[in-house]
Amino acid sequence: MVSVAKVAVACAVLSTPYWLPNRVVALRGKVFARVNGDSAMTFPNDLVGADRFEEIYSHPAANGRSRGAGLSDLFWYWLSPGPEVHQEHLEAGPRYDDVARCTLRILSGPSAELSAAAARRTASVLDELVAGRAALVRLRDLMMPVWAEFLYGLVFREPCPPEARRLIVGHARDVVTSLKCTGPRHLARRARLTRYLERRVRAGEVAHELPSSLTLQERVHYLQGTFFNTGVVQMSEAMAHVLLALARHHDVQERVAADPDDDRYLGHVLDETFRMYPLFGIAHRITTADIEVDERTTLPSGSVLCFSYPDYHATGYADPEVFDPSRWERMSARAAHHIPFGVAANRPCPAWRLSPLVMRAAVREVLARFTLDSTVSHTRSIPHAAPCLLVRRDDPLPAHHVLLVRGFLRARDRWEDLWRSLLQLGLGTWMVLDARRARLAGTYFDAQDAEPPQVCPAHPTRRA
Ligand code: HEM
Repeated sequence: MVSVAKVAVACAVLSTPYWLPNRVVALRGKVFARVNGDSAMTFPNDLVGADRFEEIYSHPAANGRSRGAGLSDLFWYWLSPGPEVHQEHLEAGPRYDDVARCTLRILSGPSAELSAAAARRTASVLDELVAGRAALVRLRDLMMPVWAEFLYGLVFREPCPPEARRLIVGHARDVVTSLKCTGPRHLARRARLTRYLERRVRAGEVAHELPSSLTLQERVHYLQGTFFNTGVVQMSEAMAHVLLALARHHDVQERVAADPDDDRYLGHVLDETFRMYPLFGIAHRITTADIEVDERTTLPSGSVLCFSYPDYHATGYADPEVFDPSRWERMSARAAHHIPFGVAANRPCPAWRLSPLVMRAAVREVLARFTLDSTVSHTRSIPHAAPCLLVRRDDPLPAHHVLLVRGFLRARDRWEDLWRSLLQLGLGTWMVLDARRARLAGTYFDAQDAEPPQVCPAHPTRRA
């Protein structure tokens, strides 16, 4: 006879996909906080509520970027090589201004041209990678070659050769899997892209003047970090989110597909996707002077301030957990708690204008070809890279085939979630410790503090 204990054990094991992943995620958060050892404050909280969140984020003294936060060692570790010249991590000053100007120049262009380029790249990648009547894909992986080609086009002003695309995608995928703690870093893979870019920069083949305050090696790392890491990763993640949202909300998908030129509604879909799934979980700043919150509370200079996007985006809305693009017909993104690209006064995203524009063009290309269907979970970090069924719009599958695939996706997602959460816990803890040991940011700033920067007498803005 089967004992009660055996039944209980069997139930516990079989139900693990339903409860274990969440517990592991919570545990990982605690391990990160503990190992990082920062006495960081996360807003909004009781001290600085949602009503004053943007005011504190925009405060002129909330302008330290990397120096003085243990958390920086971890970000530098993930963004290597060359995190010290990644725009996100440069401290305010002439070098930052020089780099930020260059990024804006490279990302600029007439809207129609940028949209057309994004549509062209999306069409050619889809036609190359999705053959046949239907395909099971991971949306983030499907989108990476699109944005690799697109950003290559902006930087070099020429079509992206297959070899360059392979290097860029390999590099960006390595960064994103390590950021999500679903795979270790492969520095040799990243170095292959560095060598390629170095050759192109040396030969003067970049179509823009690069920041004159950077050395040649730093210019290479700047291009690699800003465009072929952050640019490709962010665009692929953002597209994976919007396409997964469409795959899970068929009414919204059909409305967009029925009238693809309705920019307003597609804009609302993007706004709602960015609201619920902001790409940044937390953006941090280190205060460079005291910030007075009120007569009794001051945030002292040197504090690490963490701004939580998901928490902020969940305040000030009716039913914030519901995906409802039509809410934006009744409210304006400017007036709402909505900062998907950061705050204008404090280092906002340089691709703020470009990203929604080119995403709209890419979404239209996808929906012109396929219907999307998915039953997987949709979380902000999408560690599963957004599995989805694509079916040709002009050649639909029988309904029972789609039902079978939906069931398969749901079941596989549950079990993948289980082993992946354990992997993330193990790998994440190891990477946090490894980053602390490597101490990339700490060592860099220690060296700067020990030695005043040497200035090249011939070019006062350039380091010798
Ligand atoms: C939908 C796509 C994107 C979203 C939602 C997004 C979001 C953001 C956010 C929220 C910030 C500010 C974080 C902070 O306050 O620390 C940021 C900064 C940044 N983003 Fe984006 N981003 C996107 C696409 C891109 C692309 C395509 C690029 C480059 C080609 C890019 C490059 C950067 C850089 C360099 C910064 C740092 C800005 C600075 O510190 O001056 N982003 N992004």
